[in-house]
Amino acid sequence: MLGPVLLAASRSDGIRRIVSAAPVTRPVVDRFVAGERLGECLTAVRALARRGIDVTIDFLGEDITDASEATRTRDAYLALAEALAGEGLGERAEMSVKLSAFGQALPDGHDLAYRNVLPVVEAAAEAGTTVTLDMEDHTTVDSTLAILGDLRTRFPQTGAVLQSYLFRTEEDCRALAGEGSRVRLVKGAYKEPATVAYQDKHEVDRAYVRCLKILMAGKGYPMIGSHDPRMVAITQELAHRGGRKPDEYEFQMLYGIREAEQERLVAEGHRMRAYVPYGTDWYGYFMRRLAERPANLAFFLRSLLTR
Ligand code: FDA
Repeated sequence: MLGPVLLAASRSDGIRRIVSAAPVTRPVVDRFVAGERLGECLTAVRALARRGIDVTIDFLGEDITDASEATRTRDAYLALAEALAGEGLGERAEMSVKLSAFGQALPDGHDLAYRNVLPVVEAAAEAGTTVTLDMEDHTTVDSTLAILGDLRTRFPQTGAVLQSYLFRTEEDCRALAGEGSRVRLVKGAYKEPATVAYQDKHEVDRAYVRCLKILMAGKGYPMIGSHDPRMVAITQELAHRGGRKPDEYEFQMLYGIREAEQERLVAEGHRMRAYVPYGTDWYGYFMRRLAERPANLAFFLRSLLTR
């Protein structure tokens, strides 16, 4: 029951100020966020690379209120692409973007977000890597998929995220299961109304499996974004049955979560990619992680008590 409360809190400015200012918050945030600066993020990326784990890097930010912040996001990603090229990390590191941080929710936001993200996708291609569009709340899905379609006409390797909790997603999976398509399938992390999304966890899980079957049977490149051991096992079974080789799909997990499992999958010969967030605007991301799992919240509360 705490999950929806925390998700609502993730969009409250008042609670943001309190949580962000609490000195105990920082060490807990560090478990999920790879630092506030690009240099710290690159240190984390190099450490993961040494363990055979690829990454997708997220410069934290969302729900911006003016166009200058969108420019700041774009510039941060351009600097990131340049750093990845400079370090020769293009093969191991891709970038994840939230279009809301590129202006999607502002007036004329669809075009603004496209104009801001296009140079980032171009820079990624020059750096030998690519971009995946994260998926935010359901009101953004049409716009995000339209931007994906436009980007893919020139950069077909651009990826997107689909969320199994939305009723529409099986249909979106069918539309995006074609040759060259890269889809990260997740369960979904936002508070969504019952008119558009399954509310029951088991229903979300069942929908995830249906979507997984569509993507694994298709011709695209499925990216399995889940920590759920059942989803990992079902993916392996579907790959085995469908004759998909280990380089024809990949597992993705969040930085700091189930690290032993990430290493186990690498040791078994699977491609594993960690989603590595960095930056100062960690509040929304952090609160969604607390909402997902009571143990994460307990960890946070324990650190308040044991201080
Ligand atoms: P779920 O939360 O249902 O947990 C299932 C099981 O997994 C648990 O019972 C436990 O066994 C195991 N588990 C989960 N967390 C664990 C932990 N901390 N430690 C140990 N075991 C754990 N969402 C979104 O809306 N838009 C997006 O763009 C993205 N992007 C994204 C990228 C990547 C790489 C990932 C992994 C996830 C996202 N998400 C996301 C978040 C996603 O929607 C979802 O909220 C979380 O991944 C949690 O769902 P799970 O599938 O991991 O399992």
